[in-house]
Amino acid sequence: MIANERNLLKFEAAKNETESSVEETFNGFTDSKPRGNTAVSLDFTFNTFYLYGIPEHADALLLRDTEETPYRLYNLDVFEYEVHSPAALYGHVPFLLAHSVDFTTGLLWLNSAETWVDLESGTEKEKLPRKHTQWISESGLVDFFVFYGPKPKDVSYQYSRMTGTTCLPPRWALGYHQCRWNYNDVADVVSVLDNFDKHNLPVDVLWLDIEHTDQKKYFTWDPKKFEQPDIILQKLHQTHRKLVTIVDPHIKKDPDYQLHQALLEKDFYVKDKEGRPYEGHCWPGSSMWPDFINPDMRNFWANQFVFEKYPYSTNDLHIWNDMNEPSVFNGPETTMPKDNLHFGGFEHRDVHNIYGLQLHRATAEGLMRRSGYTERPFVLSRAFFAGSQRYGAVWTGDNAATWEHLAVSVPMLLSLNIAGLPFCGADVGGFFGDPSPELMVRWYQLGAFYPFFRAHSHVDTKRREPWLFEEPYLDRIRAALRHRYNILAYMYTLFHESHLNGTAIMRPLWYEFEDESLYTVEDAFMLGSALYVAPVLREHVTEMFITFPGEENWYHLITNEKRSPGTFLEHVDLSFIPVYQRGGTVLTIQKRSRRSSQIINNFYTLRVVLDSKGRSMGVLYTDDGSTFDFKAKSAYCLVRYSAFDQRLESRLGHFSASTFDNRIEEVIIIGVQKKVAKVLLHFEEDQLLSLSFKQNLQRETLIVKNPAVSVASEWILSWQLS
Ligand code: GLC
Repeated sequence: MIANERNLLKFEAAKNETESSVEETFNGFTDSKPRGNTAVSLDFTFNTFYLYGIPEHADALLLRDTEETPYRLYNLDVFEYEVHSPAALYGHVPFLLAHSVDFTTGLLWLNSAETWVDLESGTEKEKLPRKHTQWISESGLVDFFVFYGPKPKDVSYQYSRMTGTTCLPPRWALGYHQCRWNYNDVADVVSVLDNFDKHNLPVDVLWLDIEHTDQKKYFTWDPKKFEQPDIILQKLHQTHRKLVTIVDPHIKKDPDYQLHQALLEKDFYVKDKEGRPYEGHCWPGSSMWPDFINPDMRNFWANQFVFEKYPYSTNDLHIWNDMNEPSVFNGPETTMPKDNLHFGGFEHRDVHNIYGLQLHRATAEGLMRRSGYTERPFVLSRAFFAGSQRYGAVWTGDNAATWEHLAVSVPMLLSLNIAGLPFCGADVGGFFGDPSPELMVRWYQLGAFYPFFRAHSHVDTKRREPWLFEEPYLDRIRAALRHRYNILAYMYTLFHESHLNGTAIMRPLWYEFEDESLYTVEDAFMLGSALYVAPVLREHVTEMFITFPGEENWYHLITNEKRSPGTFLEHVDLSFIPVYQRGGTVLTIQKRSRRSSQIINNFYTLRVVLDSKGRSMGVLYTDDGSTFDFKAKSAYCLVRYSAFDQRLESRLGHFSASTFDNRIEEVIIIGVQKKVAKVLLHFEEDQLLSLSFKQNLQRETLIVKNPAVSVASEWILSWQLS
């Protein structure tokens, strides 16, 4: 990487008081620009064509030459956003990855002001493949960091040392979330919950959008419709589920609203350019915005989540922070004027892109504080910046119920993953509009492999809870939900790995395979290093070509059908999208259907897929699923599986007796091509047990039922050929 090759290191010096005003008016809004023009810029050149990152844009993963319109990084609430556009969206991470066969390099442009990134391919004269980039920010410093790789995972690791890794979410947060703007009242919520059970559909979390509050005053409940929210919380608790309520940063300007009065008295609101509390419009009508840049304000905010302050809240209630770009309905570009003032004398222009992160941070702190720092928080945020991963999940905002939006969710989420924000998802079903049953099924089938899996819909759409679809659609949605729960232990293990190393969870194929032909693939992805997911992204598709990467065979997650590396015409009826397990990996799945992830009495199946040399490896991480004991007391269990020479070994990398312990009810060894005579289990010293098994030579599978071992124990299973 070369910096300043094109001499674009520029900065504008702030004006002094005697210089004339550079005030600007756009769309009827005037920006007084009291410091004048203060932009900074620099160029970077990379010796490759392949650049990725700088989310969030509803566009391809591979960044393209920008010609007239640069990628814009300015957190905005965009109504009905379009796909295939470099326009700004709700959150941004000014981090880019340059990738080639020889190297991967990361670049973080650490600036929270409005930023534009221009990309241009090198000319023919330059011979080498080259990309020129220019970064321009409206204010702040030239402050950048380079991460040398040399592989994508190394860049993720290095970048995460600086900005942090994803928090380890509570395990239930990886289950399925059911949301809608809005569930109407307590009875409606209870009936939604009953219907999940009645129709045998697993779910972990129900959500309440803005209408649950008393006139959009957050931390309150609508006195009629949600008079007794404790009924909801009790019912959720009894059925091992959680609630998420929305808490937005716009505070209703209402003299009777105690939170508003306290914020005014403490002088904690963002100020307008004259130094008065800034007033704008949002969901509650006239509103003001707490200054999350102020650490005392964040501390005050965190205290609002203590159980005594937030009526009816319990440890089962977690939070959704929305509209935190911040969204201001009557502000310039639906956000705050840039000459608004924050704590420390910063103008809003300087800190705009971290406002949302600071709210996310303060809320996560609040949820930890209320439990005495014992319970892990869950907080979803719409706006984000580099580092937001430390506080919780993010999502891609108000998408639409169209096939284009389904398809673009893949590159959007991949881009977030490689930019250090792996805990992300898109609204399943699409927020605006009514999805056809087919689109709904395809979205659930893909969503089951999103790191964050939530269905959500706009208040004007038709109700679309799964049981409102006829057969066979309902059945397909149920199957998709169950697939999610089948792979939850694997997903949780991936989150733990990411929590340690910053690794992406949903990965572009080039993140896993060194193969230039994969650099432009963005309609399929790897979930961790074991699963290849090729979603169906178009309507009425019954067959599609799928290219299986790498050198090892792949086996279908459900049918165990084998695919060799190369391109294959796959049959894709509505029953399931192609998901394959990579040769050489061990996956721990849970096949029994449960109503939520929190019913811990669930057994494991080990899926051991051998590579061409008869080897395989895998890890399982488990802990209590919700507390910080995995850190504070090292209370977790790490099991390493390795197969070689016709034996499978289970070894404990770490074992704490207080972690939950489940039985393995089945071991499936795939890729066994010869007839097996005997399967033996070796445990403790010299104990041997002969196990019964079934073999399907055509499918190359060897199935051992009930080996009667616990997942948290050491043993060896061997198979002898006839
Ligand atoms: C915003 C959010 C959406 C939410 C709505 C009402 O549009 O993005 O998810 O339902 O506000 O709170």
